Amino acid sequence: MLLLNEQAGLACGKEDKALAEKKIKTIGILTSGGDAPGMNAAIRAVARKALGNGVKVKGIKKGYQGLLNEEIIDMEKKDVSDTIQRGGTILGTARCSEFRTLEGQKKGAEICRKHGIDGIVVIGGDGSYRGAQALSKQGINTIGIPGTIDLDIACTDYTIGFDTAINTAMQAIDKVRDTSSSHERCSIIEVMGRNAGYIALWCGVANGAEDILLPEKYDYNEQAIINNIIDNRKKGKSHHIIINAEGIGHSTSMARRIEAATGVETRATILGYMQRGGNPTCKDRFYASIMGAMAADILCEGKTNRVIGYKGGKFLDFDIDEALAMHKEIDEYEYEISRLLSR
Ligand code: ADP
Ligand code: F6P
Repeated sequence: MLLLNEQAGLACGKEDKALAEKKIKTIGILTSGGDAPGMNAAIRAVARKALGNGVKVKGIKKGYQGLLNEEIIDMEKKDVSDTIQRGGTILGTARCSEFRTLEGQKKGAEICRKHGIDGIVVIGGDGSYRGAQALSKQGINTIGIPGTIDLDIACTDYTIGFDTAINTAMQAIDKVRDTSSSHERCSIIEVMGRNAGYIALWCGVANGAEDILLPEKYDYNEQAIINNIIDNRKKGKSHHIIINAEGIGHSTSMARRIEAATGVETRATILGYMQRGGNPTCKDRFYASIMGAMAADILCEGKTNRVIGYKGGKFLDFDIDEALAMHKEIDEYEYEISRLLSR
């Protein structure tokens, strides 16, 4: 694990030494898995820092699938102009089952060698890191950057896209709340996050939801939710907002059952892909920029099989194998407070 200020040495004397050794001549950048706002800021930072280090940069389109299809383009500083504010990923992204096979991974490494690519920065989630780990085993240096709205990567407190996604979802939930109050309805609003409840937890607290259902904690006790709705009606509450995480799902059938049991009109809203789009927030742009630059530096230095993280207020890098073995849990205190404030 290395601190950013130790890395900072790279920008000065150490950098000259590393570059003089010319370990790395050309790097590739790819985005993989679900897109996330801020990925473009990361691509831009990787490209500009690597080019500044005197290293050539190639963009690999559509993740590992694009690598296997040899969709590889040269990138100059101007190619990332006017991108920091844009959502999505200018390189495109994909999920690629062929890359899960040893054959696919060998083919990917061979294509890298054919194009003179010595190292790759992979921007994505845990799955994408496994691909990077496999490429590293095939002799291609790899560095991962956490890019996912789900915040479900254990080695880091921050993932690119999460901040934009929660703000987008929060604003959408505020709107649903307005109409829910007017009609005196119960609303179940389903947010993304795959198997993780971070988006649900943050929005549940920020939107003042009456119930917050997290996959990590939910006990499927629907009767408790029904009792809560009935109690709140008795207290005169005009709406009842339930934030349900995608990992629990089934919001539409849950709404039907709750309406039948409470007599309160209940609607389900599944926010869906809108949470992955839009202009990244300042926080996503800033963190992505620092992480991107750091990834370029450590890749140029000749490191491999590392991922960038942000922990305890510092930017760090970890071994991918160690990072993938780490576990992350919903913070107990945050969970308790979310429950306390909703009642
Ligand atoms: P995320 O990176 O957001 O977790 P996925 O889990 O879908 O998204 O992974 C993205 C891509 O990474 C997959 O489509 C696949 O190409 C690659 N990948 C995932 N798991 C592995 C693995 N075990 N070995 C090699 N490549 C993998
Ligand atoms: O990982 C980001 C994410 O949006 C998850 O929240 C969601 O479960 C998944 O991707 C959806 O993936 P797809 O784009 O393949 O439907």
